Amino acid sequence: MPVITFANTKGGAGKTTMALVVAGELAKRGFRVAMLDADPQQWVSRWMVRMAKVPKFSIIADIDADNIEKTIKDLKKRNDYVVVDLPGGVTPLLAKGLGLSDHVFVPVQGCALDAAGGAQVLDILKKLKSECDIHIAHSVALTRVSSIITTRALLAVKGMLAQQGVHVLATPLIERAAYRDMFDAGTLIDALDPEAVSNLAKAQDNARLLVDEIAQFAPVPVKVPKTAKSTATAKAKAETPRKTAAAKKAA
Ligand SMILES: Nc1ncnc2c1ncn2[C@@H]1O[C@H](COP(=O)(O)OP(=O)(O)O)[C@@H](O)[C@H]1O
Ligand SMILES: [Mg+2]
Repeated sequence: MPVITFANTKGGAGKTTMALVVAGELAKRGFRVAMLDADPQQWVSRWMVRMAKVPKFSIIADIDADNIEKTIKDLKKRNDYVVVDLPGGVTPLLAKGLGLSDHVFVPVQGCALDAAGGAQVLDILKKLKSECDIHIAHSVALTRVSSIITTRALLAVKGMLAQQGVHVLATPLIERAAYRDMFDAGTLIDALDPEAVSNLAKAQDNARLLVDEIAQFAPVPVKVPKTAKSTATAKAKAETPRKTAAAKKAA
């Protein structure tokens, strides 16, 4: 099942926020989601302590370069999505985490200079391809975009990145109080109080659109329903002896 990773070597780029918003929305849609907290500061795991239990949503702490591969392998078997929140800095954990991903999202705040932290991630992805022949799909995901930014300004940023051959998600994560408040409240955005948080509905709409787009790049494989499968198997079994008998006659 898809492993989607949020990476930017700069702290404060918006990785953890976007990872939580995406993981929360996927869980809300009924997917089994495991979120890996690979940040040694364990923000997400500490936050989980206060979070009301969300069905099918688990947070796994204490991920490091030594255990990330096995942990992801195990979690993939039991979950529809594995969402990885990587720490800042250029570390062996970053390289391993990127290499184990099906799709890497690089949160970048508008055209600000944390794009440099994003560029470091893009460089590592390039090296994985050229030196190790490992191709990991990736997209820049704009975040903390002002709700009053003009479409034209946003298009200019996207155009600039596209010129460098970098794919950019069409849906940015807007700067919203809800995305900050979820940390203070220790909940996912859907559990916030709409009376107390301004523009909560807009924050939820934004999360929906972002996940709609992300799910196109990292779709969950469709399982053949058990009934159809067993019917097909039963049919095949039933037909086999007849074929064998016919074949024997022919021979
Ligand atoms: N879309 C957003 N709207 C409002 N605040 C945001 C948004 N994205 C990130 N932030 C805030 O920016 C800060 C850094 O974000 P965080 O996700 O912790 O970054 P990182 O994980 O890359 O270090 C946090 O205080 C967070 O609440
Ligand atoms: Mg973080």
